[in-house]
Amino acid sequence: MKLPKRAKRIGILTAGGDCPGLNAAIRGVGKTAIVEYGMEVIGFRAGFLGLVNNEYIELKESQLSGILTLGGTILGTSREKPFKIDKNGNNSKEKPELIKENYKNLGLDAIICIGGNGTMKTANMLSREGLNVIGIPKTIDNDVWGTDVTFGFDSAVQIAVEAIDRLHTTANSHQRVMIIELMGHHAGWLALYAGMAAGGDIILIPELEYNIRSVCKKIEHRYEENKPYSIVVVAEGIKHPKNMTAGTHIAEAIHTYTEIETRETVLGYIQRGGSPTPNDRILATRYGAFAAQCIAEGRFGMMVALKDNRLSAVPLEEVGGKLRLVDPGFPLISKARKMGVSFGDEYL
Ligand code: F6P
Repeated sequence: MKLPKRAKRIGILTAGGDCPGLNAAIRGVGKTAIVEYGMEVIGFRAGFLGLVNNEYIELKESQLSGILTLGGTILGTSREKPFKIDKNGNNSKEKPELIKENYKNLGLDAIICIGGNGTMKTANMLSREGLNVIGIPKTIDNDVWGTDVTFGFDSAVQIAVEAIDRLHTTANSHQRVMIIELMGHHAGWLALYAGMAAGGDIILIPELEYNIRSVCKKIEHRYEENKPYSIVVVAEGIKHPKNMTAGTHIAEAIHTYTEIETRETVLGYIQRGGSPTPNDRILATRYGAFAAQCIAEGRFGMMVALKDNRLSAVPLEEVGGKLRLVDPGFPLISKARKMGVSFGDEYL
């Protein structure tokens, strides 16, 4: 569908933590907007910071070639929250006003915000302020409400699985308990999927309350069954003392109770870096192209989403401020339990 009257001008930004697939999404938006709908596209630097400070680049179609496979984001990102309430309970009117001014002065017809939960919340507030906004969900945590999956997740699972596969050899050779801490402050999707794909023996996620004695019983039980090594996959957001990481806490506690040698690995930002998997490239591209289509059709205040592998648009009003957590009854969890995988809550 070609736009009959004037070419629209749209803005795009990437906000929050980076993840694989951001450039694929920028490319998906940009190419579709330019080639199919004859729009002009500008990219804001460093997330909402660029929108506040009016820092942007014009994105021509040629600049969108060759970025599909690149990790990170060519636009840069930040955790800037323009509606943030300060410690006195006031929120600065200044930044939202600057954003509205810049949006108007740049002649924008719409803005696409690519990000996670925080970004969708801000996107919704901008929509309430009268801007035409479309959200695209990304995060390795896979915890954006309203969609079955975010891009970045599949790539992070792959990186984490490769890492856990390698830990198996040391666990086995040295007869140790190897603990690996993965990202996920609130949601355990990454630990659950990577743990299951890599044959983790114990998987601890924020949504399921674990008991360290139960974890240790599982490890001791494995010893009795002639399996003198274990792999424990831990999400960073599980309950643990503030002065140490979740992985350190679990490693120390296991050693204290079982006296078995433990080693811990914190995978950290490696799981957020590098080139996206083919699945993430496809998902980010689909989201990007669909976001451009939504703008062309005049559908605003929406987040593009995937439900049962079909693209859909969910009102930002419904998404903002919510999290998509792992349900304790999630089928993969019950299947895992039936195979003897522990979630640290079985043995008591
Ligand atoms: O991208 C999501 C996430 O990876 C969380 O799992 C993690 O806790 C957080 O970002 C940390 O990111 P940063 O240090 O960039 O704020």
